[in-house]
Amino acid sequence: MNRTRLCALAQITDGDSAGFQVADQGVRHDLIVVRRGGAAFVYRNSCPHIGAPLDFAPGRFLNLDKTHILCSTHGAMFRIEDGLCISGPCLGDSLERVAATVEDEAVFVDISSTAGS
Ligand code: FES
Repeated sequence: MNRTRLCALAQITDGDSAGFQVADQGVRHDLIVVRRGGAAFVYRNSCPHIGAPLDFAPGRFLNLDKTHILCSTHGAMFRIEDGLCISGPCLGDSLERVAATVEDEAVFVDISSTAGS
């Protein structure tokens, strides 16, 4: 367990996404955060297809309708709630989820919950 305060919830527009970088023991972690009301869904910014970052512009991870996370490299689409790829070259694979909680209007993550750490 390695709980880190990522940001204030208000830093992310409700229904939209943001990108954050967290350093832990000398290792940089690039994270995707999608906010849905008082909930935050956090994943590593690495596509399961070839490991590319997903955003086409910094912090912009969602499709036009803001219904799914979109990989800008080859167009894979992922469900926001669990990171499952529902179309694209990595269909059936999932983004790597990072355990996150929202407390006192702030987002906390547990970096040790990811396989990449
Ligand atoms: S790198 Fe994401 S779909 Fe290919």
